[in-house]
Amino acid sequence: MDIIKEIHAIKKAKNAVILAHYYQDSDIQDVADYIGDSLGLAQQAEKTDAAMIVFAGVHFMAETAKLLNPGKKVVIPDMNAGCSLADSCPPDEFRKFKEKHPDYVVISYINCTAEIKAMSDIICTSSNAVKVVNSVSPDKKIIFAPDKNLGAYVIKQTGREMLLWNGTCMVHEIFSLEKITRLKLRHPQAELIAHPECEEHVLKQADFIGSTTALLNYTSSSNKKEFIVATESGIIYQMQKKNPDKVFIPAPPNNNCACNDCPHMKLNTLEKLYACMMNELPEIIIPEHIALYAVKPLKRMLEISAAP
Ligand code: 13P
Ligand code: SF4
Repeated sequence: MDIIKEIHAIKKAKNAVILAHYYQDSDIQDVADYIGDSLGLAQQAEKTDAAMIVFAGVHFMAETAKLLNPGKKVVIPDMNAGCSLADSCPPDEFRKFKEKHPDYVVISYINCTAEIKAMSDIICTSSNAVKVVNSVSPDKKIIFAPDKNLGAYVIKQTGREMLLWNGTCMVHEIFSLEKITRLKLRHPQAELIAHPECEEHVLKQADFIGSTTALLNYTSSSNKKEFIVATESGIIYQMQKKNPDKVFIPAPPNNNCACNDCPHMKLNTLEKLYACMMNELPEIIIPEHIALYAVKPLKRMLEISAAP
């Protein structure tokens, strides 16, 4: 069976759209109708007229697509594709935390569960976190959850004080500054580019910081030829495709493994993608009482993002 041909045939027959995050394997990126970062994917989900959304990414991303399309079927290749950041913010603990700070505006990074979204005032992604924080009146106090690294980066960019939830991404917190420094000595012309989920000491050394889409665009616009990439390795596929004459070196992690793969993202495979389109399972279902509240801060984010 030619699985790629079959995926395209089912897509047509079922009027489905495949949305994929840049951290997916290259063969999944190649069959997707749209590849993007979390913001781009949410925007695509909001405007699609397809009957079924096939979300090649992790659970919170597919959940976001469902919140924006309550009447549509949203399926994901592997229901176990979670996220360490989303896991770091259990709803019961977050509720208690929020109750201790009742007069705070809650801004949550999109990498969280629908339950956390339902307790938030505005959602943000790594592309628009600064804009979202700046949209909050200066006299208001802010809780930022769940990523403390992105939060610390936004504090630096905006000068706003924020109360940070203590969560991190298992992929972005593992980069070794020592190994990066050694790599820079061997590649003195290379620029270090980093995702804002990385730890502060890595970000301090970075020549450019941005979301996956911003990093990709930067590698195309920069006149440099070599880049040390401090984010999940999946994005390098698009960087190399768009810039075949440039060299991309994955930033080394602080363990014995040489790769920067997100184990959650990489649970999805082409075979599981095919099966989920064929069977229309596993399907994302969100209890109505949660969806009702979770969609509001998400829509607020999309409005802020669209504003000039
Ligand atoms: P962006 O898609 O906003 O770059 O975030 C990266 C990420 O970690 C997604 O899980
Ligand atoms: Fe979550 Fe990090 Fe994986 Fe993104 S890369 S899905 S933030 S664990």
